[in-house]
Amino acid sequence: MAIQHSIILLAFLIQFSSLYFPSLGYDEQDIYFISCGSDSNVTVTESNKVYIGESNPNYPKTSFSKSSIETSQSSVPSPLYQTARIFHSESLYEFKTVPNNTYMVRFHFFSFSSPLNLSTAKFTVSVPGFILLQNFDAKNTTNSPLVKEYYLKIIRKKFKITFTPQKASFAFANAIELFMLPVHLIPDSIALFHYKESTGRNLSTYSNDFLSRSLETNLRLNVGGGIVNRETDTLSREWLPDDRYITDPQNAKNGSFEGDIKRTANDESVDSNSNKYIGPDIVYKTAKVSVNGSIGLNISWSVPVEKNIDHFLMLHFCDIFSDQQTGLTTFILFVYDSYVINVNDNQSLSLQMPYYYDFVVRSDSSGLLKVSVVPNTSVEVARPNAFLNGLELMKVIESSGPIPNDDSDSRKISLPVVVGSVIGGLLLVSMVVVLFLWISKIRKQRPVEKSEWLPIPAARGGSSHSRLTDATTIQGSPLPNINLGLKIPLLDLLKRLTNFYLKL
Ligand SMILES: *[C@@H]1O[C@H](CO)[C@@H](O)[C@H](O)[C@H]1NC(C)=O
Ligand SMILES: *[C@@H]1O[C@H](CO)[C@@H](O)[C@H](O)[C@H]1NC(C)=O
Ligand SMILES: *[C@@H]1O[C@H](CO)[C@@H](O)[C@H](O)[C@H]1NC(C)=O
Ligand SMILES: *[C@@H]1O[C@H](CO)[C@@H](O)[C@H](O)[C@H]1NC(C)=O
Ligand SMILES: *[C@@H]1O[C@H](CO)[C@@H](O)[C@H](O)[C@H]1NC(C)=O
Ligand SMILES: *[C@@H]1O[C@H](CO)[C@@H](O)[C@H](O)[C@H]1NC(C)=O
Ligand SMILES: *[C@@H]1O[C@H](CO)[C@@H](O)[C@H](O)[C@H]1NC(C)=O
Ligand SMILES: *[C@@H]1O[C@H](CO)[C@@H](O)[C@H](O)[C@H]1NC(C)=O
Ligand SMILES: *[C@@H]1O[C@H](CO)[C@@H](O)[C@H](O)[C@H]1NC(C)=O
Ligand SMILES: *[C@@H]1O[C@H](CO)[C@@H](O)[C@H](O)[C@H]1NC(C)=O
Repeated sequence: MAIQHSIILLAFLIQFSSLYFPSLGYDEQDIYFISCGSDSNVTVTESNKVYIGESNPNYPKTSFSKSSIETSQSSVPSPLYQTARIFHSESLYEFKTVPNNTYMVRFHFFSFSSPLNLSTAKFTVSVPGFILLQNFDAKNTTNSPLVKEYYLKIIRKKFKITFTPQKASFAFANAIELFMLPVHLIPDSIALFHYKESTGRNLSTYSNDFLSRSLETNLRLNVGGGIVNRETDTLSREWLPDDRYITDPQNAKNGSFEGDIKRTANDESVDSNSNKYIGPDIVYKTAKVSVNGSIGLNISWSVPVEKNIDHFLMLHFCDIFSDQQTGLTTFILFVYDSYVINVNDNQSLSLQMPYYYDFVVRSDSSGLLKVSVVPNTSVEVARPNAFLNGLELMKVIESSGPIPNDDSDSRKISLPVVVGSVIGGLLLVSMVVVLFLWISKIRKQRPVEKSEWLPIPAARGGSSHSRLTDATTIQGSPLPNINLGLKIPLLDLLKRLTNFYLKL
């Protein structure tokens, strides 16, 4: 099985149009940019993004029992960090979501100066089935804001985020973002790269899909370029320069391209903006490229990772260096000194066309993940070359428990269920009465003995289906990979539209 070329499709644009323009039928309530602790809206002028305030009718439902608000006493890096909502006991937000979609979740933390020392906060943030931040210590959020970012598959119509402070401490958040991602940005099933095999690469399908897993962003690099901030990126991601991770800086130099990159493969019917959500142009217009005079030398990056954990790696390429005469430069990609693939060696690619390879790789015990691009010196072009435009690394988080699959949505309770629960309730009451009479009778008979307490089973609604069960059902019809053409994303689009109309 070849690593997929994740070539990008028109369907992305269609889906995202409907996401961003309410006039096209998107239900605004499915996108959340919320400010915590602020009554009114907060606008980040650089991105023109509005984080809605707590008095907004579209604010997610909240359940705070002991909570307060802090406001910064001095200037902050962004108006987002002017306020924080403080949780002194377990508290939750409940968002409305479109089932069966991948969402991005972000938390903003900044310990601004205030009477309550926010940097002493210690807490856990969880969502159904996953602990996203365990025993988080806010001490590192004093000098600059910390943004934690996750990719999650949400299968239900409601999505709860729970903040649980540690004993004698508290939790807080300055802002939360939750929004749907383009359908195939994170594929449901993916290649697992076994780098330890002596035979070189060995790819298998990642044994499970991403329904029972989520991803936490570790690192996102705009290789060869400068910082791309959240205000510029198409999905508010932050891309950092790569220089500090290069292990052999003498082999590499920054390369850049002034022209337009070509978003599509030889297909004029496809809109050029179609795949802008994969990564912004600016990421593809810069790269680290092997220096002239170092022909045949590798460029390697070593990025810090947690040891022995699966990681999702997205490597972005765009050949902005070759010309029509030589054609695409092919070179070799290595991970941990194991061969992965010949980059650019595919008929469906063309000059200045962005694409990426994605796969799962398990980190070794060194605490570093190594990626190298190696010029193929046997290629008969004037100047062998190798480059990399972008790198994204996410840690795979395994689910920490079953995910309830009922929505316990009171509005949707059907008549039989209502009748059923009324009858059930009556039965329960009669049972309690009978039991009470029976116990009183026993008590009368044996007044000295303490009565035995007979527990009545708690009437639990819903089923105890685990997320795993769901996953197997869904796996039955594996969603296609991004590279399989336009057909399938249209199917997804139809699904989304159906969802949308069902909601009306
Ligand atoms: C080239 O890319 C296409 C589309 O992603 C893929 O189906 C095909 O297998 C690739 N060919 C090679 C030789 O890798
Ligand atoms: C807050 O922002 C929302 C969403 O952009 C908007 O609908 C609402 O009118 C704004 N409220 C105020 C008071 O500006
Ligand atoms: C806040 O708490 C941290 C950690 O306990 C401490 O280092 C810092 O000095 C405190 N800041 C203020 C302003 O009290
Ligand atoms: C805080 O930052 C320091 C230096 O950047 C880092 O070594 C440490 O692991 C961080 N601590 C936490 C709890 O994130
Ligand atoms: C690939 O590696 C995995 C794990 O080491 C192993 O189970 C599998 O059999 C290997 N597949 C091939 C084709 O070598
Ligand atoms: C590459 O560009 C970045 C951003 O402009 C800069 O920080 C870095 O020093 C440059 N690296 C080299 C090797 O020129
Ligand atoms: C680049 O390398 C080639 C081959 O070594 C050499 O002929 C050429 O002069 C070099 N160009 C520059 C600008 O250094
Ligand atoms: C390039 O990297 C490969 C794999 O890591 C290694 O086998 C090879 O020796 C390296 N070549 C050079 C010139 O560094
Ligand atoms: C290098 O390129 C040659 C010629 O295109 C090709 O046959 C060879 O497989 C490539 N080397 C590697 C390691 O892929
Ligand atoms: C989610 O997808 C699964 C499998 O495709 C399907 O059984 C389930 O009904 C879907 N849920 C919703 C709410 O559409």
